[in-house]
Amino acid sequence: MFIDTHAHLFYSNFDGELDEIISRAKNDSVDYILVPATDMKTSEQVIELTKKYEMVYGAVGVHPHDTKDWNSSFINEIERLAKQEKISAIGEIGLDYYYDFSPKEKQIDAFKSQIELALKLDLPVIIHNRDSDEDIMNIIRSYSGSGLKAQFHCFNGSLEDAKELIGMNYMLSFTGNITFKKADSLRSIVQNIPTENLLLETDSPFMTPDPHRGKRNEPSYVKLVAQKIAELHNLRIEDVAKITSSNAIKMFGILKKTETAS
Ligand code: NI
Repeated sequence: MFIDTHAHLFYSNFDGELDEIISRAKNDSVDYILVPATDMKTSEQVIELTKKYEMVYGAVGVHPHDTKDWNSSFINEIERLAKQEKISAIGEIGLDYYYDFSPKEKQIDAFKSQIELALKLDLPVIIHNRDSDEDIMNIIRSYSGSGLKAQFHCFNGSLEDAKELIGMNYMLSFTGNITFKKADSLRSIVQNIPTENLLLETDSPFMTPDPHRGKRNEPSYVKLVAQKIAELHNLRIEDVAKITSSNAIKMFGILKKTETAS
């Protein structure tokens, strides 16, 4: 079984097709899907999705792109949403200096406040980072020893940073981009990450793996990411599935419900 720890199923390009997408995922041995929100509105949508689909778990929080209007009152609202059943993390949160959608100070303020909330609620955080390695690493180092649990999603930092994060017991995940022809440097990072620190993700609807690149991504394609990890680690795909699922269940507190065959 696979767990896709990152699929934005609330995007409008999934509208009207979610039932099919969920059943395709089940047919391709995906047992659980974690849907991270990007702002307050999508946090509400995530909660609806967790109620509608048994296999869906969620994360609530504000993505760095959406921190332009961030103010401290958001935290109480995120806390209320985070206490809903099947909300397993605060996310996705982080820093993005590639796009200029929100000022740096706002991004940093929102990022730190949401980390503090996660610590208070004993929930993991799901971290987005683009072109902000130095600030992300400094902030993360400042929480060392705090008991913070974190997933660095769609990891695109250096091998050096990856090793430091593993040393702090954090989890890393890679998307369909590890299947791309020109991704040799990313693949060499994957080879250096122990499977105990790996989670699977698609980042649907983005980062579609080969051979579907260019089309909309969906959770059933998580097996293509798992296949690539298996190749790079000389493992069977079944072993990658087993290890990463157990990592995800442990980190996000996903409970395997007793299910009859479905
Ligand atoms: Ni995302």
